[in-house]
Order: sequence, then structure tokens, then C-alpha cells
Amino acid sequence: MENQLNIREILEWYVTAGVDETFGEVPFGLDAPKPQVVEPPKPALTTRAEDSATPRAATTDLAQATISACKNARELCREAKDLDELRSMVENFDGCALKLTANKTVFGGGNPASKVMFIGEAPGADEDRIGLPFVGRSGHLLDKMLQSVGLDRDACYITNVLPWRPPGNRTPTDGEIAVCLPFLKRQIELIKPEVIVLLGGSAANALLDNEEPISRLRGKWLEYKSSEGTLVPVLATFHPAYLLRNTAQKAKAWADLLRMRQKLMQ
Ligand code: URA
Repeated sequence: MENQLNIREILEWYVTAGVDETFGEVPFGLDAPKPQVVEPPKPALTTRAEDSATPRAATTDLAQATISACKNARELCREAKDLDELRSMVENFDGCALKLTANKTVFGGGNPASKVMFIGEAPGADEDRIGLPFVGRSGHLLDKMLQSVGLDRDACYITNVLPWRPPGNRTPTDGEIAVCLPFLKRQIELIKPEVIVLLGGSAANALLDNEEPISRLRGKWLEYKSSEGTLVPVLATFHPAYLLRNTAQKAKAWADLLRMRQKLMQ
């Protein structure tokens, strides 16, 4: 009995710490041999000479590695002629440590010829298991929201700022977002949507490059300027995961989607 209580307490402690699933080939515990620790590969560092434009303050290894990984991602993306090429670039990219803890790379999904592109924050546990965006609880709510304004999920293109799940669904760091952003921006250039819908504050802040709360950003037409100079109308709205916890805000999100629908029909 005492043993059972201890196990329950330990499990509760893990859940509180954000651990929501277990996986791994090697069992470990008190008596089992320790699992081998695999050092994450460090992204190649640029030399000082190569990076002379970098502000002096950004001299820590991590900052330097992040800057280098961003540069690498930006250069790679320019070469991607279509979505398939971009997808394999993302799958083979080693500049973001999130890839090491994720099960799957979750690239965008849906209709690449769609006029509308939805962008969320990052895959959750279900997306990480299946390899597609918005297939869990948030995804089901998103499907219903789309249906309520006469849109079918298969008619839309859906993606995330990050293609890898942050462990325990923690908030992505600025560095992780910065490294993955070039891949999202290239996806936008290749899809050429007429309208972008940003789901939640994280996606809105990342793409619009600001720090405004979603409550201030949502519901009004904004613009995203692509690297090619095209201006794309953008609408930010609440993230479905937020709406699952704050059902009273669903009406505002619905009004936002109606605005988007109207714009598509113009
Ligand atoms: N939340 C997101 O932001 N994206 C997903 O794909 C799933 C949940």
C-alpha cells in the first residue's frame, strides 16, 4: 500500500513537471543499467570573421550557435523550389535541438493550392505521434470552427511555426522560433495564400515580429510582408487550445473566422 502511494506521488510529480507520455527503447530504473547519454550535435559555429556583423553582446556559445543555425536555415530555404524539397530540408535539418526530443517532424498539411493558410504554434503530443498538424483536441475544435463558417479542413493549408514538439508542450524559446521561422516563411512563399490566419499569440508574435498580446491583435486585418515583398492580409485569432479552456471566447473567434471567410469571397 505504502509502495503504491509512493508510485502515485511520483507519477503526480511527473505530470506536474509537464511529462505527459513515456517512450524510449531502453528501460531504466534503480536496478537497470543507465541509458547511454547521447550528446546533441552542436550546430556548426561560424567564425568571428564570418560573423563580423553580429552584435558583440551575442558571444555565448548558445547565442552564436543559434545565429549560425538561423543563417543556415535561411540559406537552405532559398534553395527549396517546391514544398517537397522544403519538407525534406526540414526533415534533414539539425540546427534545432527540439528535433532530438520529438518523435516526428510535423510539416504542414492540407491543400497546398488553398487560398487560406492557418498557422499554429507547435505540434502537441498527438501531432508528434502522427506527424500531422492539428490532429488532437485542438485540431478537432479547429475542424468544427472551420465547418461553422463553411470551410472544409481539406480545402485549407495548416501548419505551425515549429515543426517539432517542445517537450511537455512547453513554450518555445525565442531561439527555437528564430531558427525555424525561415522554414515557415518559405512555406508561405511557396503556398502563396491570399489570407493567413494566425492561431494564438505565439504564431502572431513570431510572424508579425511584435510582442502584442493576442487579445490586442485579434479580430483586425494586419499585413505580412513576405521576403519577396508580397503583402498578405493576416488575421490573428485565439488558439483552439485556449478556446478549449476559455469557452466564453469562442464567439470572438467565430466572428474572426467569419471576417476571414468574407475576405476570401471578395
Ligand atoms: N497546437 C498547435 O499549435 N499546433 C498543432 O499542430 C497542435 C496543437
